[in-house]
Amino acid sequence: MIQKLESATALAGTVRIPGDKSISHRYAMLAAIAEGTSVIGRFAASRDCHSTLACLRALGVEVGTAGDTVTIRGRGLHGLSAPAAALDAGNSGTTMRLLAGILAGQPFDSVLTGDDSLVNRPMGRVLEPLRRMGAAVEARERDLPPLRVRGGALRAIRYALPVASAQVKSCVLLAGLYGSGTTAVEEPVPTRDHTEIALGEFGAAVRVAGNWIEVDPGPRLVGRRLVVPGDLSGAAFFLVAAAIVPGSDLRLPGVGLNRRRRELLGYLERAGMELEVERESAESGEARGDLRVRYSPRLLSGALPPIAGAETAALIDEIPVLAVLGSQAAGGLEISDAGELRVKESDRIAAVAANLAAMGARVTEKPDGLVIAGGARLRGADIATRGDHRIAMAFAVAALAAQGETRIHAADCADVSFPGFWDALRSVR
Ligand code: S3P
Repeated sequence: MIQKLESATALAGTVRIPGDKSISHRYAMLAAIAEGTSVIGRFAASRDCHSTLACLRALGVEVGTAGDTVTIRGRGLHGLSAPAAALDAGNSGTTMRLLAGILAGQPFDSVLTGDDSLVNRPMGRVLEPLRRMGAAVEARERDLPPLRVRGGALRAIRYALPVASAQVKSCVLLAGLYGSGTTAVEEPVPTRDHTEIALGEFGAAVRVAGNWIEVDPGPRLVGRRLVVPGDLSGAAFFLVAAAIVPGSDLRLPGVGLNRRRRELLGYLERAGMELEVERESAESGEARGDLRVRYSPRLLSGALPPIAGAETAALIDEIPVLAVLGSQAAGGLEISDAGELRVKESDRIAAVAANLAAMGARVTEKPDGLVIAGGARLRGADIATRGDHRIAMAFAVAALAAQGETRIHAADCADVSFPGFWDALRSVR
C-alpha cells in the first residue's frame, strides 16, 4: 500500500495513541506463566504484540481478545506445553528475545522463527547468556534465527550485558525465573525497565542495586488486572509533527511516562519544544499522563542538542523521527553511538540517510550515527520504508513539512507498532 501525503497546515485535535508495545509484550508473557487470570486493558493493537499472543496460544495458553482488552488464563511457571510447530515471532525482536528466555526454562524443545527482517537480526546476544545458564540453544550461521531452544533446568548467572539492550536484559531475567539461584544482570547504561516493574507487579522478587538487577527463581506469579499506558514511542511522531507544522496544537491522553522512556520528553523540552505534561498518575508501577504539544518556533530556530552515549540508548526508537526534526531545526542535529540502529527492523541509519537525502536534506552517514544539516526545505519524494514501521511513520511526519507529494511505499508496515496511524494522522489535519 502506498500512502500519498501533502504538506499540512495546523494539526489540531486529540490522538488516542495505542497501548505501549514493550509493556504489552511483557504483561502477556508474564500473565501466561502466572497462576490465575489476567485482564490487560489498552493492550497494544500492534502486529508485534499479536505475534506474542499467537506464540503464547501455540504454547497452550488460553488468550481472549475483546477490543483492546486481552484476557489470559495463566498456566503457572511450569504449565506451558510443547508447541506443535515453530513459533512465529513475525517482525518482533522483543517476542523472539524475551520468549527465548522463558523457553530456555521449559522441559521441551521449541523453535522460534520470524519474517525476513527478523531472521536477519542478531541473536548471539541472547544465545550467549542462555548457554551460560546451561540451555542448549542453536541458531543458523552467524547466530541468526530460527532459534532451536532445548530448555530445562538452568544455572543462575551473574551477567554483565555487552550491549545496552532491554531485550537481552529481559531475556536473562525471564530465564532467571527458572534458575538454580538468584540471577543478576548488569547494564552498561540504563535501558527501559518495564520487565523489572512488571515482574514485581506479578509477584516476583526483583532487586535493583546500582546497575545490577537481580531476580530470584521460582516465584509464584499471580494473574492480575492491568492497564497498559499509551505508547510514548508512537506519540513521538505526533509530537514532532505538531512541533514542525505552524499553528499546530495536539493532545495525546494517557501516554506512558516510564522514567527511562520519558527521557525523550526531557530532551525535547531542552530543545525548545512547546510541551506540557498534565494529569500525571501511576498504575501498576508505570507512570502515565496527558501530553499537549504546540508548534515550536523556538525549537526550529536553533540546533537540536547532540544525541550521544547513554542518551542514544534512551532515545533509540525515536531517532528516526528525531532525525526528521533535526532536518527542520536551523542548526541541525548530530547523532552518535547509535550503531544498534543498524540492526533494528531495518538498517535505520541507512534508511534515514537515504530518505532524508531523497527529500532534499543534507545528511552524512557515520558508522554509528548521522550528521544532519538543519533548515532543509524538504520536497516530496518516494520513500522506501524497507518494511520498517518507524521509517514509514517518521517520513510521514517529514511529508507534512515538504513541498509537493510524498509517497510512502509499503506503508502498511506502520501496523507493526501503530495500527490506525494513517487514520489518526488524517484526523488531525
Ligand atoms: C525493546 C527494546 C529496544 C527497542 C525495541 C523494544 C523492548 O530494543 O528498540 O523497540 O521492548 O525491550 P533493544 O533492547 O534491542 O535495544
